[in-house]
Amino acid sequence: MEKLEQLYEGKAKKVYRTDDEKVYWIVYKDDATAFDGKKRGTIKGKSFYNNQISAIMFEYLEGFGIETHMVKLLDDVEMLVKAVEIIPVEVIARNIAAGSLAKRLGLPEGTVLAKPVLEFCYKSDELGDPMINEYHIDAMGYATKEEMASIKEQAWKINELMVDYFKKLDITLVDFKLEFGRYEGRVILADEISPDTCRFWDTKTDEKLDKDRFRRDLGKVEEAYHEVYTRVKG
Ligand code: TMP
Ligand code: ASP
Repeated sequence: MEKLEQLYEGKAKKVYRTDDEKVYWIVYKDDATAFDGKKRGTIKGKSFYNNQISAIMFEYLEGFGIETHMVKLLDDVEMLVKAVEIIPVEVIARNIAAGSLAKRLGLPEGTVLAKPVLEFCYKSDELGDPMINEYHIDAMGYATKEEMASIKEQAWKINELMVDYFKKLDITLVDFKLEFGRYEGRVILADEISPDTCRFWDTKTDEKLDKDRFRRDLGKVEEAYHEVYTRVKG
C-alpha cells in the first residue's frame, strides 16, 4: 500500500489518501490541544500510546461484533483505516459525572450516575462542539434517524464492553467520546479510543490517567498515557 497526498490534518492526527480509494493512512501526532485548540502543547509519546491503545481497543470491540474503521496497525504511530465519511456528531457516553456535565448540572465530580447517559455534540471547532439533541441532528441532516438508531445501539454496547474491559485493569471508565463514519452503507466506529478521548481514573487511588492531566495542568501527563498503555498491553 502506498501513502499518497495528505487529505486532512486534524488536531491529533493526519489523514492521507492511499492507492486504494477505500483505505486511508493515519498518522497520529504528539500535539495536544484543549478547549477547542485554545490551549496547545505536546505530549511526548502520545502518538505512539494513542495509536497502540486505539488498535487494542478496536480489536477488542471487533471481537464483540462492533465494526471499526481499523484495517491494520502499521507501526508505532501509523494505522490503515477504512475510508469513512465522518458523521459530524460527537457521541459522549458518561458513567460518572465529570468535566462539562459536572459543571452544567452542578454535580460534584465523581458522582456516580444512576444510569449511563449519552450526549451528542456538533463537531465544529469554530462553534466549540456545541451540545445538540436528536431533533437538531435530524433537522440539520447531520445524520439520519436510522443512522442515529445504529449509533446509539453501538454506543451503549461499546460503553458496556469498555467499562468491563477497564474494570479488569483497575481503571474506572468515567466517560468517553466516540465518532462514527459512513462506510459502504453502514455506520461504523471511527476516530480513536485513547486517553485523549476517555476519562480514566485509577480505581484504587482515583488518580487521573488521561488528558485531564494536560487540560488542568496536573503534571505527569506522559506518565499517565504510559500507565494506561502498560495496563492495556497487559
Ligand atoms: P467533557 O466533560 O469535557 O464534555 O468531555 C467528555 C468526554 O469527551 C471526555 O472523556 C473527554 C472527551 N472529549 C473529547 O474527546 N474531545 C473533546 O473535544 C472534548 C471536549 C471532550
Ligand atoms: N479536542 C479538544 C480541543 O482541542 C480538546 C479536549 O479534548 O478537551 O479543542
